[in-house]
Amino acid sequence: MRVVILDSTDAVSRFAADQVADVMHRSRNSGKSPVLGLATGGTPLGLYNELIQRYRDGSLSFADVRSFNLDEYVGLPPEHDQSYHYYMKESLFQHIDIRMENTAVPQTWQCDLSISALEYESKIKNAGGIDLQILGIGTDGHIGFNEVGSSLASRTRLKTLTRQTRSDNARYFTSIDDVPIAAITMGIATILEARAILLLATGANKAKAVAGCVEGAISSGLPASALQLHPNVTIVVDRAAASLLHHAEYYEDSERVRVKLQSPQ
Ligand code: PGA
Repeated sequence: MRVVILDSTDAVSRFAADQVADVMHRSRNSGKSPVLGLATGGTPLGLYNELIQRYRDGSLSFADVRSFNLDEYVGLPPEHDQSYHYYMKESLFQHIDIRMENTAVPQTWQCDLSISALEYESKIKNAGGIDLQILGIGTDGHIGFNEVGSSLASRTRLKTLTRQTRSDNARYFTSIDDVPIAAITMGIATILEARAILLLATGANKAKAVAGCVEGAISSGLPASALQLHPNVTIVVDRAAASLLHHAEYYEDSERVRVKLQSPQ
């Protein structure tokens, strides 16, 4: 795993935007339209603002990009202001030149949930898979809505949300009772099929989950630890989120070596 520790949340967002731009560039160079896996929540908002900025200044176009979001609540219509359909439109899609028909968020409203989950898997496959999957991490170590105990072989499916997740997300709702009790989420195995993964975490409340993800045992007890099985994962964190990493000094040395080896001799 590549672990990048940066001084501020802004630096995390800029680094993430550079990675997204780089993957888009590489896909196009190999004659393919880029396929991005997107996340919601508070953490990626800075990344999305950075991408919007780059679109506005003419340095990045999303005209040929396809996107797949990780998850969607069950029980909220797409136009509900806390649905992830709504979040994506408001936070990114309506500000860039992506074509709405090329964006996908799991369908959970007035449909058969198991069929919807299966169809989502096929849609990702038919698009040729995901080039870069963006992830946040829950305070309990979830990725997407793969809560504790999620099979490391799980695919897109219905998942009950933990009390911890509902309480973490209650800040967006009038009360915790309004937070949905379930979601459709890509599974851990679905996420691990992305060709590259970029996990973003900021703030001290993520420090324990980040340490478990990077340095803990691989376990469904901390679903993000499954990322250790993937050969192309970058974890980008601010100092607060990195504060419980035992080997932070080594990760910083590794980044310095990387820069040195990549600069012209
Ligand atoms: P957050 O959520 O970015 O709002 O902290 C992350 C997550 O639950 O995956």
